[in-house]
Amino acid sequence: MRLYLRASLCSVAWLLVFVAPTALAQVPFPGQCPEVKVMDTFDLEAYLGIWYENAKYPFAFDIGKKCIYANYTLIDGSTVGVVNAAINRFTGQPSSVTGTAKVIAPAQLAVTFSKNQVANRPNYLVLGTDYESYAVVYSCTNLPPLAHLKIVWILTRERKPSPDTVATAKEVLDNNQISRKFLIDTLQKGCPILDDNETETTTTLGDDDDDFTTTTLPNAIEKA
Ligand SMILES: *[C@@H]1O[C@H](CO)[C@@H](O)[C@H](O)[C@H]1NC(C)=O
Ligand SMILES: *[C@@H]1O[C@H](CO)[C@@H](O)[C@H](O)[C@H]1NC(C)=O
Repeated sequence: MRLYLRASLCSVAWLLVFVAPTALAQVPFPGQCPEVKVMDTFDLEAYLGIWYENAKYPFAFDIGKKCIYANYTLIDGSTVGVVNAAINRFTGQPSSVTGTAKVIAPAQLAVTFSKNQVANRPNYLVLGTDYESYAVVYSCTNLPPLAHLKIVWILTRERKPSPDTVATAKEVLDNNQISRKFLIDTLQKGCPILDDNETETTTTLGDDDDDFTTTTLPNAIEKA
């Protein structure tokens, strides 16, 4: 127990010192949002369901979270209900946000988590998916005059996808000249089981508390 506590405190300290300055602002890139190639055709219904977050660009709201997944359900032919769920990696507390996604064009969705906000700018572009194993999602915002913010997500149908699946997703990034080096792996260990597809048994406290500092963070720092 004492070990666990010390590891947690240590993680928090690392988090504040090293992640906050870069990740809170996301990673700004020079120039305007680059052109990307979204999927020509998009099968919304095949895309619905559970997607586990495998990796993504640094994103402030998700700092300190693990076991992140999205649940997409059909509301009507062009609107999707979105639930993004996660576990706080320090307290184990689950949390979720609920939103909607409107299909603006094939593979281009406008996601909003605010009821008062009408979403009509595509901010969720599907660059590639086979619907059954991986999806690559891209979002970019221009910061006039000379910079842009972008987020990239690799989503997978399995919490622990095969290396081949992840490699296929990363090829989609390569084909769009989107750098892999800012990707941070999402911790999907010691997570509650969602369905029969999962085999992992719940892990004991302390089993995963050090991954963040020993692997994810140094990688991110080195890459930043
Ligand atoms: C996903 O959403 C559907 C519809 O709200 C719900 O029935 C299902 O239990 C959800 N699944 C998970 C794992 O959250
Ligand atoms: C479980 O696996 C089956 C077959 O791969 C798939 O059709 C189903 O959508 C999966 N369930 C969830 C909740 O991901």
